[in-house]
Amino acid sequence: MYKNMVELFEEFEGKGTIGAFNVHCLEMVPAMIKAAEEMQVPIILQTSLGTAEYIGFELLVAVVRALAEKEKVSTALHMDHCRDIEALKKAIDCGYSSVMYDGSVLPLEENIQNTKRVVSYARAHNVSVEGEVGAIGGTEDGVVLSKDENMYTRLEDAMRFARETGVDALAVSIGTTHGQYKSKAKINYELLDDLRAELGDVRLVLHGGTGVADEDMRQCVKKGMKKINVGTELNKSYIDVVRTTFTSDEVTPLTSLRRLLGPANDRVKEIIKEKMVLFQL
Ligand code: 13P
Repeated sequence: MYKNMVELFEEFEGKGTIGAFNVHCLEMVPAMIKAAEEMQVPIILQTSLGTAEYIGFELLVAVVRALAEKEKVSTALHMDHCRDIEALKKAIDCGYSSVMYDGSVLPLEENIQNTKRVVSYARAHNVSVEGEVGAIGGTEDGVVLSKDENMYTRLEDAMRFARETGVDALAVSIGTTHGQYKSKAKINYELLDDLRAELGDVRLVLHGGTGVADEDMRQCVKKGMKKINVGTELNKSYIDVVRTTFTSDEVTPLTSLRRLLGPANDRVKEIIKEKMVLFQL
């Protein structure tokens, strides 16, 4: 079934954290939804604006919707980290069921005002919205922050942001970094506990899942994180598997591409299933 993110949160309440996995190419989409179907766990597929433009908004929505609607498991399609309000409106008009407005590098007041505009447009289309307070460092497609710009979320800012914008989910900066695949993040649990205590039922989102150790994943799930994003690990694994299959001695010009991409898609499916096990209570 094709749903928005809030519907997924409600359905999965009390069962753990929902995994949000970045789509890097159209080829991997069926494997991603298959992973969810095999685990019978809802899934959020998300794209950067760059990926959406590369694949084409309409084509991507049509593929995800068609695959989602023939399965029982719930799937949402989410636009990840987007700073362009017009592009978000386009995503909503084209059928994305969820969007993230990322105004985290803006002054708080401007972030709030822009997020409110997105929330109001999204509400009218039954689309869920994620916002962000406190910038998460690293490299996000087209959005690059240095490690020094990785600013922890300030509690008072998060409280005001959540109250005034009415977002459905809030990305917080508690020590993770996007694209961290060579080392592991050090999570600030004290801050996470404070955010949980003060923000009540606001659903928190952890970005930069690739750099989070399994034990920290389990802790974050137990501590009530509602959505965890994983992107780079899928991209890196896809490249690793493709590199091996494409250079194998058996490859000739008559070898079908599907035989070469199949193993990479299978690996994506396995990784998602492994994360889904970690994310369940
Ligand atoms: P990673 O690429 O580090 O897993 O982060 C993904 C993410 O947070 C997307 O918003």
